[in-house]
Amino acid sequence: MPQRDPNSEETFDFVVNKGNGIKGLVDSGIETVPELYTVPIDERLEPNKIITHGSIPVIDVSNWDDPKVKESICEAAAEWGFFQIINHGVPLEVLDAVRESAHRFFGLPNEERSKYWPENSPTDTVVLTTSFAPRAETVFEWKDALTMRFGPHQYRDSVPLWPPVCRDEVLEYGESTKPVVRKLMEILLKGLKVKEIDKAREYALMTASVVTINYYPRCPNPDLAAGIFPHSDASVITVLLQDDNGGLYVRATDGNGWIHVKPIDGAFVVNIGDMLQIMSNDKYKSIEHRVVANGSKNRVSVPVFVTPRMDAVIGPLPEAMGSGEQPFYKKVVCADYFRHHFGKKHDGKKSLEFARI
Ligand code: OGA
Ligand code: NI
Repeated sequence: MPQRDPNSEETFDFVVNKGNGIKGLVDSGIETVPELYTVPIDERLEPNKIITHGSIPVIDVSNWDDPKVKESICEAAAEWGFFQIINHGVPLEVLDAVRESAHRFFGLPNEERSKYWPENSPTDTVVLTTSFAPRAETVFEWKDALTMRFGPHQYRDSVPLWPPVCRDEVLEYGESTKPVVRKLMEILLKGLKVKEIDKAREYALMTASVVTINYYPRCPNPDLAAGIFPHSDASVITVLLQDDNGGLYVRATDGNGWIHVKPIDGAFVVNIGDMLQIMSNDKYKSIEHRVVANGSKNRVSVPVFVTPRMDAVIGPLPEAMGSGEQPFYKKVVCADYFRHHFGKKHDGKKSLEFARI
């Protein structure tokens, strides 16, 4: 547990122990950013670190089977680790509905939201959290998140226990994104010379997938706070829906500066996670990204984190390795990697070191 000054201890108690989250803190009427959320100057995203030319690739996937589409996806995964897809077939109504339901959930009174904190939740398939790893962080992220687990098998039994204001919308969103996830995985794995995703592989790679609703309440001084610190995702891939507020930035490929991910209505932002970087033996890149706080609006985003079974063993795929190519990673049990990743604050791409040879 990090050392904190008495002010921050008090904020910690209100946000974490009392289960109010950052939403509860904002609702309490704060007009300044508390110390616990004040980011050291050199870690802020100053304007001189933002690159205004260029953007991550935008790929039209109206015809998934077009070889050019497949090529663009694999190239983007290798060069950028991040891209947007448009014309993916998930209706805008489904996307709007899940975003609206996100605002409904976080608009609930605190007593209603707090039913889903880990210690209270009626099922482990739904959980509300705040910041990223509150017990390991000295500076908090300006974010709460509601996560719903999609697999394995019997998750549907617990859906009636999900929050009524968003469960149908999240369920529909999760189901509607499945074919998109499946197509992306097929194409990305084919790009690594994997012939097909058989049932066993699908089960190993995607069973613990979750839908998360990220909520970034309006911040009285967004320059001082961070929505999410620079990090890479531990997932295989992440498919994310954002809203029109913007605020997501991706580390430029040369490592210098940050590029804004321009909101495109109806698009998904797709990024490669650590699991796939490991499986591809660095052919695909899990790129650092971060979110800034917003001074005028409550922002939501709804990522699907495609996640392996916790007992799956992840390592460079034999098919992906050229002859004589050395593996850069050892085999790791997914649960061990996730425990490591979620046990510390967000810290760029440091988690990957856990698996690196
Ligand atoms: C995440 C993330 C980006 C966003 O949840 O891991 O990077 O735009 N979210 O909310
Ligand atoms: Ni992320």
